[in-house]
Amino acid sequence: MATKVYDQVDNWNEVLLVYRSALKEVNTKLEILNDEFQHVHRYNPIEHIKSRIKTSESIVKKLKRKGVESTIENMIEYVDDIAGIRIICSFTSDIYQIAEMLANQSDINVLSIKDYIKNPKASGYKSYHMLITVPIFLSDKTVETKVEIQIRTVAMDFWASLEHKIHYKFEGNAPDHIKAELIECARMVSDLDDRMMAVNEEVQALSK
Ligand code: GTP
Ligand code: MG
Repeated sequence: MATKVYDQVDNWNEVLLVYRSALKEVNTKLEILNDEFQHVHRYNPIEHIKSRIKTSESIVKKLKRKGVESTIENMIEYVDDIAGIRIICSFTSDIYQIAEMLANQSDINVLSIKDYIKNPKASGYKSYHMLITVPIFLSDKTVETKVEIQIRTVAMDFWASLEHKIHYKFEGNAPDHIKAELIECARMVSDLDDRMMAVNEEVQALSK
């Protein structure tokens, strides 16, 4: 059934086009917010932004883990992070401001929020996660498209990338002393974030 396979590939390319468009939409929204913030408050809340489309291998792996058959429909329904954006901020307060400004936009629909800053994971992981949809206007239809947004500070990002590497290296079973050391580092990261934010607030107040 070669034609059937070609159909599927063609559909999948259209799906990918929609997710790529969603990343563009959200990236533009973030750029606008950052520019406006620079204009009004004279500083950039966003240090940098990374975005990616999940590889088809990872999508299939995730569906397998969920015990769901690999169809295009299931990918769209069950894999929330096909389009992913990571926003890196300087201060914890920036994270909540960015999240609120995005959530308040009339075309953005917030499906769920996981606040791992207020409730860190057992690993020590901290970040603010938002699952949103954004409308993508095609020639003949509008597709509400899911984007997973992770917002974290530079320090949280530093921690998460090392922890991710270690998790990967030991396939999730890192030695206990390494896990304990990571939890201790996560505590230091939180402490650093709090102190840097306090210094910044003091300086901001002085320059007013
Ligand atoms: P996934 O099946 O991985 O998507 O988990 P989930 O559906 O429970 O979502 P969750 O919001 O917890 O995590 C989604 C993403 O957050 C992951 O793909 C990672 O990028 C990141 N993340 C979550 N927990 C950790 C962690 O303990 N360490 C690191 N480094 N990243 C994490
Ligand atoms: Mg997820």
